[in-house]
Amino acid sequence: MKLVTALDMGTNKVVALVGEMDSYGDVHIIGIGEVPSKGIDRGYVTRLDLAVNSVLSAIREAQEMAGVKLSSVILGISGPNLKSQNEKDTLSISSQPVEIDYSHVERLIERAMMRSREEGYEVLSAIPRKFILDDQEGVVDPLGLLGSKISAEVHVVKIGTSLLKNTEKVVLNAGMDIVEKFLSPFASAEAVLTPEEKEEGVLMIDMGAGLTDFVVFSEGAVLQTGCVPMGGLNITKDIAHFMKINIEQAERIKVESGYALSDVVNETERVKIRPRGEEKEVTVSRKQLAEVIQIRLEEIMEKLTDLLQLQNVDLNTLHAGIVITGGSAKLAGMKEFLERYFDMPVRIGYPMGVIGLKEKVQDPAYATSVGLIKLAHRALTIDKKVMTHRTQEGKSENTLNLSNLIAKVRTFLRDII
Ligand SMILES: Nc1ncnc2c1ncn2[C@@H]1O[C@H](COP(=O)(O)OP(=O)(O)OP(=O)(O)O)[C@@H](O)[C@H]1O
Ligand SMILES: [Mg+2]
Repeated sequence: MKLVTALDMGTNKVVALVGEMDSYGDVHIIGIGEVPSKGIDRGYVTRLDLAVNSVLSAIREAQEMAGVKLSSVILGISGPNLKSQNEKDTLSISSQPVEIDYSHVERLIERAMMRSREEGYEVLSAIPRKFILDDQEGVVDPLGLLGSKISAEVHVVKIGTSLLKNTEKVVLNAGMDIVEKFLSPFASAEAVLTPEEKEEGVLMIDMGAGLTDFVVFSEGAVLQTGCVPMGGLNITKDIAHFMKINIEQAERIKVESGYALSDVVNETERVKIRPRGEEKEVTVSRKQLAEVIQIRLEEIMEKLTDLLQLQNVDLNTLHAGIVITGGSAKLAGMKEFLERYFDMPVRIGYPMGVIGLKEKVQDPAYATSVGLIKLAHRALTIDKKVMTHRTQEGKSENTLNLSNLIAKVRTFLRDII
């Protein structure tokens, strides 16, 4: 078992999680560092020095708890300028069927990546969803099968180059190497979804403080990815504005008394607040508090629905419904709100398969960091498989830039996420 450190730089908190995965796929957490996030806002770095300090503090805390020196991280990336698209392409190989190998799949991925190129953006992930081998549709893994032409639909996700480079700079300035980068919502999905849900079709939403990321899975693979640049912090700010209270107070009453649906809150319930400039506490209606929350939630979900419509996602085909995770999933009434809004089954997504420090980590706010550890281990396992396969093929490692190749090939193995 190999120790890895996940680093999730959120709008609300920076988390460094040290863990290892056993052969059953369970994650053993041995160190956690969590500090309030400073100099980071919705994936953007707003102040380099503060952001570096946040990362340093989180790493230091995790290091002390784990009792090991940490030198590299698996990094989660997300942001408002995340874009996804599906590229379809066909590769004619030969007139007679030949055995499909890595190089054919690689070419399809490379071509999809080339076609998705856009100035100012960097491709973060390219995953074939399904293959067609000659006329045979629904091929999950074409390796070793025979065919004269292969088609693939590749899901490509890209993100703003500056956002990515600045995030990397923070980590490097904190003295840590970056072993691997994954999209934060892919990591969250890895932590909270079951393979059955991915197969049946599911919409996973990670609602944090500043970002509401989502991933749609169908037939076991990613269909669409996106991000609404709003989250729980917008709700807190609305409450602060509406009730004329500061952000800390607004956050407290949101967590203690907030509710996502106003019509189920009793008219008579009151919440204590102390408005700015007032000496004494006053009470406000809890129903009104819920109204403020519900209005913003509806706006966020409307934006999310618009994005899904643009991406031609038919929610009726997602039979496993919705799984909501991220810190804002803990808002009281969230499940009921979403059930009513989307008219679909909803469950709250808690990170699954965690052993060690379970009470702390089995929290929707930890979905991304737990998922990063799981993804890193899957990637390591697949690396080994690809290595073995290549050696068996008798190809000289010297003539290939193996690590680069593996990085690319690995993205196509859809069981990676
Ligand atoms: N019990 C609760 N009720 C309501 N909201 C909550 C509760 N607990 C946490 N939150 C909200 O969750 C949000 C933080 O979630 P999370 O830790 O997932 O964010 P983050 O990952 O730091 O940010 P992001 O991913 O958006 O950049 C905050 O807005 C906070 O108010
Ligand atoms: Mg987050």
